[in-house]
Amino acid sequence: MSFFTYRKGEMHAEGVALKTIAAQVGTPFYCYSAGALRAAMREFVDGMKGMNASVCYAMKANSNLAVIKLFGDMGAGADIVSVGEMRRALAAGIPAERIVYSGVGKKASELMAALEAGVGQVNVESSAELETLNAVAGQLGVKADITIRVNPDVDAKTHAKITTGKKGNKFGIDIDLARAAFAEAGKLRNLRVVGIAMHIGSQLEKLGPYRAAIRRVGKLIAQLRTDGHKIDRFDIGGGLGIVYKEEKPPSIADFLALVKKETEGLGCELTFEPGRRLVGEAGVLVGEVILVKPGVSKTFVIVDAAMNDLIRPTLYEAWHDILPVRQPRPDAATIRCDIVGPICESGDYLAQNRDLAPLSAGDLVMIRSAGAYGAVMASSYNSRPLAPEVMVDGTRFAVTRPRPSIEEMISAERLPSWMEPAKA
Ligand code: LLP
Repeated sequence: MSFFTYRKGEMHAEGVALKTIAAQVGTPFYCYSAGALRAAMREFVDGMKGMNASVCYAMKANSNLAVIKLFGDMGAGADIVSVGEMRRALAAGIPAERIVYSGVGKKASELMAALEAGVGQVNVESSAELETLNAVAGQLGVKADITIRVNPDVDAKTHAKITTGKKGNKFGIDIDLARAAFAEAGKLRNLRVVGIAMHIGSQLEKLGPYRAAIRRVGKLIAQLRTDGHKIDRFDIGGGLGIVYKEEKPPSIADFLALVKKETEGLGCELTFEPGRRLVGEAGVLVGEVILVKPGVSKTFVIVDAAMNDLIRPTLYEAWHDILPVRQPRPDAATIRCDIVGPICESGDYLAQNRDLAPLSAGDLVMIRSAGAYGAVMASSYNSRPLAPEVMVDGTRFAVTRPRPSIEEMISAERLPSWMEPAKA
């Protein structure tokens, strides 16, 4: 079921016309469908029935407080990669013990903050981090529950910039070095090894890489147990893909069934860290056409959403579907165009070579599947304010992060004391 549909010729998010939001909030803006978020989380909750498993939402995909709270209210914990994310998770009401702290380069000060807050699990990715965490836990007089993230050397068959489980990626401890790392961890008095973790990549479109990785880690778990370690938890990571264009990613149910089957004999409690799959298709970016510039080979449609709002097209050559908010007539002719932003870079595009019904200044466009790694990767390049975020739930909507004013942006800065104050 799609939560973004045309009704009477106008694109709606659930029961709210996007043009109504645009009139009130201005453009560009991100819009999330609470129904779509709930439906995705519900699939995980239902699929995990009968399994000893839980979801720690990878909030790097979308860390809007309302989004985190919605998942938290449905039982999710959080997978965090920074103290900033931890503070957000706590602010959204996620209990500290349901927080998993991931990341390849955690600082001592960050580990300290995490242990002080009482996060449930730290996924350690290097020997150096084992030492630092042990020292920090010692200072605080606590024992830290850890897993070691291993790199199973499996090709996730995804974009090079988002594959993480191959030898040569910076993530996790090489599976061949894992026994030594566990042995080292076992000797550190302020750490309690509770399990093992992996995350092989993002936007996976097939289950095969998961199967291969789980089998490798499964073998390692058996070895580690013979070595005398208690491996009670297995953190499977995230990575399940979504539809941007014509992808056919596995259903959540099939993914969970595969994990269930492959981990059956291990007797581990499982953690899933989905990000994109929970939020990606539940969000869109809406922009307004500023002007249309016809060229010889193609037409440029210049909109007020840009690479600073959604960097995925230019960073990963990602394809995002673009639809006019006012439904074109079914027989409307199309023109070949690039949908671009107003930023002074040729890389500032949202889509290239698309055949779309003609657009004119003032028309709204919707960029689909922008709920994951959209707003969170935005910047204020060109002093463009961060686009606001809106949540729709049925026929109501709320601005969950307002657009900052230019005054707010400027007032966050300071002139050095040796400069004359600027004459306004
Ligand atoms: N767990 C760990 C340890 C991760 O590093 C990630 C994502 C996840 C979970 C969640 O993965 P997901 O379920 O969302 O695939 N900015 C890129 C994606 C970067 C993913 C980084 N790690 C993009 O826009 O495609």
